[in-house]
Amino acid sequence: MTTKIVLLGAPGAGKGTQGELLCKKLGIPKISTGDLLREAVANRTEIGLKVESLMGTGQLIADEIVMELLSQRLDQADCAQGYVLDGFPRTAEQCQMLFDAGVVVTLVLELHVADEVIVDRMSGRRVHKPSGRTYHVTLNPPLTPDVDDITGEPLTSRADDAPEIVLKRLAIYHEQINPILNFYRNLPYRHCPKIRRIVGEGPLEDVQAGLFGAVHPKA
Ligand code: AP5
Repeated sequence: MTTKIVLLGAPGAGKGTQGELLCKKLGIPKISTGDLLREAVANRTEIGLKVESLMGTGQLIADEIVMELLSQRLDQADCAQGYVLDGFPRTAEQCQMLFDAGVVVTLVLELHVADEVIVDRMSGRRVHKPSGRTYHVTLNPPLTPDVDDITGEPLTSRADDAPEIVLKRLAIYHEQINPILNFYRNLPYRHCPKIRRIVGEGPLEDVQAGLFGAVHPKA
């Protein structure tokens, strides 16, 4: 069976950071709908032009638009052996759309981090735009300040990481998370994924060990 993992967590919980490490270990791609949307904006595609003004405000983009972008990505050859979804589904409606598209999720991982820790993390986040690689100025710093470790290109901050926007994004997450979990809990048994909650606070290595333990539990 292919591995299809949904990685849930509040904005700033570490989905991008941990998802990338997890995917390296599993040899499957990480697909972030946030990255797909930001790429569409950067490339000035039809979808990009539609969502550009909403993206910086912290509000969710329409389910149909996100699903369209995701479907195109899942059709690519590298998804054949499975993938980790980061930032999708974001609503119970998106869970249903994914299910209707024939995707049977095998594992749901919920990365849990307290809101106050998140606001701190976001103010120090720096991103390498072309790859989506993420750093934190003190907690997960690049080798050279404000420079990507791999390419040497400059790092930037995200417009939606301003504290007032982060609070809005957190409120939306708290509204949506229970309907999403309930969707997966209530699926018929043969479609029902395992659901695991992982502590997302503490050193990156400890969080990674928790996630990996949930993917490959010891007998
Ligand atoms: P998206 O890009 O998905 O953002 P998000 O879910 O809000 O999550 P983030 O990327 O902000 O955080 P993360 O959990 O990946 O944390 P990270 O690893 O960077 O979405 C952006 C926007 O796109 C949405 O607001 C919406 O408008 C739209 N969108 C996207 N998907 C959509 C969908 N499905 N439907 C509708 N709209 C959608 O970590 C954060 C920081 O913490 C980093 O600096 C990192 O270095 C640091 N850090 C991580 N782990 C640790 C640790 N253990 N200790 C210390 N620091 C750590």
